[in-house]
Amino acid sequence: MELKEKISELTEAINTATIGNKEEQERFRIQFLGSKGAVKSLYELLKSVPNESKKEFGQLINDVRTKAEEKLQQAEEKFDNTLSSADTNLDLTRPGEALEIGARHPLSLVKNEILEIFKRIGYTVSEGPEIEDDWHNFSALNFPPDHPARDMQDTFFITKGDGTDPKSEMALRTHTSSVQVRVMESTQPPIRTVSPGRVYRNEAISARAHCFFHQVEGLYIDTDVSFADLKQTLLYFAQEFFGENATIRMRPSYFPFTEPSAEVDVSCTLCSGKGCNVCKYTGWLEIMGCGMVDPNVLEASGIDSKKYSGFAFGMGIERITQLKYRVTDLRLYSENDIRFLSQFKSAH
Ligand code: DAH
Repeated sequence: MELKEKISELTEAINTATIGNKEEQERFRIQFLGSKGAVKSLYELLKSVPNESKKEFGQLINDVRTKAEEKLQQAEEKFDNTLSSADTNLDLTRPGEALEIGARHPLSLVKNEILEIFKRIGYTVSEGPEIEDDWHNFSALNFPPDHPARDMQDTFFITKGDGTDPKSEMALRTHTSSVQVRVMESTQPPIRTVSPGRVYRNEAISARAHCFFHQVEGLYIDTDVSFADLKQTLLYFAQEFFGENATIRMRPSYFPFTEPSAEVDVSCTLCSGKGCNVCKYTGWLEIMGCGMVDPNVLEASGIDSKKYSGFAFGMGIERITQLKYRVTDLRLYSENDIRFLSQFKSAH
């Protein structure tokens, strides 16, 4: 076919091509102006045109190309800022996807419930720092220097200190009993306070142990406080939290900051004390440590131990949560797995 004919055929094709949307626009570009397109192949044919006619034909092909380019540009102006056919399936009147309402973390639920129970009988809530000095975490709580009890708690030490002033040695607190000391240093009795917070211990992480967990500490200081007051307070707590049929028992124990000291068991919430695999067939579940505040601790914090006495207790929030919600792996609490967390939506 004559080159001239090809040129006029192509001109005709460009003129009659319809570009109705973005896809057609792209198809047009590839067909006529692409690197293997029709205009390009005309330039290839130009090579075989005799020299004297090259100028004339070159001009004609340039005109065709300009025509195609103009048509493409018009389409670009029309379609480049509009929706593609995939987009045109969008129904902008459809309602958006509803945001899912989150759930409170089980540890927060249980912590709040514990605090509420003690607030009802006049306890305040107090908090202290997680980075604590040796004085508040150990020394003022009657842990003798270099006593193995300090190792018992697998402390994460931060600074070594100068060896003389216990306030110069810093660590992550190993228990919330440190807040007792801070409250007693700044408040004179009567004191009734509960102190929730995170604590740290250098433990390998497993289903049963973690390097951080949470406790609630309780402190009650007044004149003539007895062990009977302690026992009745903890029975009240157990029945509010675990149900009115709950009973408690106390076993003698040892803590440097209380004398006498005890560990507290609550009757198994699953089998009501009859014996099951949760309570290992004992009928009892351990829930906290407690005792009468040692006079040395009162004196270290500036409280007259001849005038005042008191009791203290401390419980692990993970442990209580485990008993309430049957969570058997401690790691679940800090993994942020939405499948675990969303199970607590209906709780409160
Ligand atoms: N601080 C103890 C612990 O972390 C728990 C504890 C025991 C706190 C007896 C107390 C107490 O206040 O009287 O294991």
